[in-house]
Amino acid sequence: RSIAIFASGSGSNAEKIAEYFAGRTDIEIALILSNNPKAGVIERARRFHIPVLLFDRTGFYQTDQVTSLLQKQGIDLIVLAGFMWLLPASLVQAFPNRIVNIHPALLPKFGGKGMYGHFVHEAVVAAGEAESGITIHFVNEQYDEGQVIFQANCPVEPTDSPDEVARKVQVLEHRHYPRVVDEVLQRLG
Ligand code: GRF
Repeated sequence: RSIAIFASGSGSNAEKIAEYFAGRTDIEIALILSNNPKAGVIERARRFHIPVLLFDRTGFYQTDQVTSLLQKQGIDLIVLAGFMWLLPASLVQAFPNRIVNIHPALLPKFGGKGMYGHFVHEAVVAAGEAESGITIHFVNEQYDEGQVIFQANCPVEPTDSPDEVARKVQVLEHRHYPRVVDEVLQRLG
């Protein structure tokens, strides 16, 4: 089975997934893709000898080069790990129930447009939530509204800063995402 990981940022989730599958011969991380030539994920990919494909808006939205490359490579599952652009409908349609994403909050709360990255944790703190967490879900054309696969939560103390919430949530991401990706792959049959 082959995985392609999309990331725009530091790529700590991508790295945890690469570490998790490093010893496995049944699963290969064939490619890491990014829209950001400065993304930390590029250096992390290099350490794991995983090829990186960079693309810009034109390449991603005006052509189908990314989708056709993923199809040519026989990618079985697309894993979004901090990818900041919406996927073109053509890509989502080419991989039905074959794209997963991790959202750093308990969807359906704190989801949707603009609710990503550190801003989510600021919104959770501002709302006085007693807990936050992660949501791993399939990606459909409505993005954060795809079927939920897994959720885990963490307490939010009244004194917690957004940074402290982000840290607790990241612990959950790193603890659960690799295993949940593995479970989804096993269910692909
Ligand atoms: C994580 O918070 C993830 O939930 C969100 O983007 C961030 C990615 O972090 N989708 P990293 O680049 O994997 O460190």
